[in-house]
Amino acid sequence: MSDTKAKFEAGLAGVVAGQTAVGEVTQTSLRYRGYEIADLAANSTFEETAHLLIHCELPNASQLKDFRHRVQAAMNLPKQVTDVVDAMPKSTPPMDVLRTVVSILGHYDPDGQNNAKSANLGKSERLLGQIACATGYWCRRMGNLPEVKPDPNATHGFNLLAMMTGKKPSELAGRVMDGTLVLYAEHEFNASTFTARTIASTLADMHSAVTGAIGALKGPLHGGANEAAMHQFLSIGKVDNVDNWFNELEAHNKANPTNKRLIMGFGHRVYKNGDHRAAILRDWSLQLSKETGQKHWIDMADRLQKIMLDKKNIHPNTDYPAAHAYYQMGIPIPLYTPIFVCSRITGWCAHIIEQYENNRIIRPGSDYIGVPARDVQPISKR
Ligand SMILES: CC(C)(COP(=O)(O)OP(=O)(O)OC[C@H]1O[C@@H](n2cnc3c(N)ncnc32)[C@H](O)[C@@H]1OP(=O)(O)O)[C@@H](O)C(=O)NCCC(=O)NCCS
Repeated sequence: MSDTKAKFEAGLAGVVAGQTAVGEVTQTSLRYRGYEIADLAANSTFEETAHLLIHCELPNASQLKDFRHRVQAAMNLPKQVTDVVDAMPKSTPPMDVLRTVVSILGHYDPDGQNNAKSANLGKSERLLGQIACATGYWCRRMGNLPEVKPDPNATHGFNLLAMMTGKKPSELAGRVMDGTLVLYAEHEFNASTFTARTIASTLADMHSAVTGAIGALKGPLHGGANEAAMHQFLSIGKVDNVDNWFNELEAHNKANPTNKRLIMGFGHRVYKNGDHRAAILRDWSLQLSKETGQKHWIDMADRLQKIMLDKKNIHPNTDYPAAHAYYQMGIPIPLYTPIFVCSRITGWCAHIIEQYENNRIIRPGSDYIGVPARDVQPISKR
């Protein structure tokens, strides 16, 4: 768009790309529809937070009961979907499985092509149940283990953990899993949500928008960072190795300025002074370590965090403590980003509905840096 002279910003940093009433991110706070994240983490279950995001208000007791009933009714994948999933190679990355599952679910949803708000509210609730169910289903299938059904009286987080591990979680583990779903649920115009909104802005259906969002979340610079952070802890091995590991990485980066390695689980586009969700989750993971006897992960994480702050002034993000919390719960690492999907589906759906309600197709300009205008030569002269 050569006649548009708006200033180009790499990665759209600092560019306001739309308006939203779903979530608010500032350097010092994160709020879902006006509620501070620490307040929600301490005083709501994930299902309550999900209701807040999808239906705009926290539920009362009877609304919560009905909501939970509808979500749990969807925790049962159609046979046509499980047939496709069963035919996938066991090596398929779980994020790819979820991406495909959501796409196929669109074929069988009674309102698949209906973009009316009432239809999209129903689809949001169904996807919330179906995605948790698919995550548990694939986790069990990866290990050749039987599917585990949800407990109608348990929270979404407790059920998700049980459906993945096949064990009844401790009360604390169930609460921490449910809490991580609260923390991950919404984050305004992050890459996956913006992808979902961009797709919705063409008036394509909700399943198409969510399928694209899952693809965007997969990358290690976004949702994939929780898995990458755990691989990093495993490669460091123990707290005594942290300093050497960091020094070697720094030496590599100095010698290879065009091929620098990032430290996964650190940095954030907005929170340059720290991600408050990370501090909440680190504390929960520490509590968990008293049950699991695995405090060494937190010791290692704390040491690397101190070095990163002292030497680079870069803070950890939520994916950093999520890694050691999920590891302590016995969840296979490739399932960490799918857990993020199980939570963020609520934020995505809220944004998709908001986009449809006040839509203009998202179509930014670009700064052309290619060859100047030229004429096509006849093929004999090229
Ligand atoms: C999250 C992230 C994508 C933000 O990207 P961004 O806003 O473009 O980051 P910035 O460009 O503001 O980073 C500023 C500087 O800090 C460095 N930096 C940022 N995150 C870093 C990290 N995790 N490890 C090492 N250096 C990092 C950048 O290389 C850059 O240095 P430079 O100016 O010398 O090039 C980036 O921090 C990152 O890749 N982190 C690791 C992956 C991760 O944990 N993702 C989860 C996000 S919630």
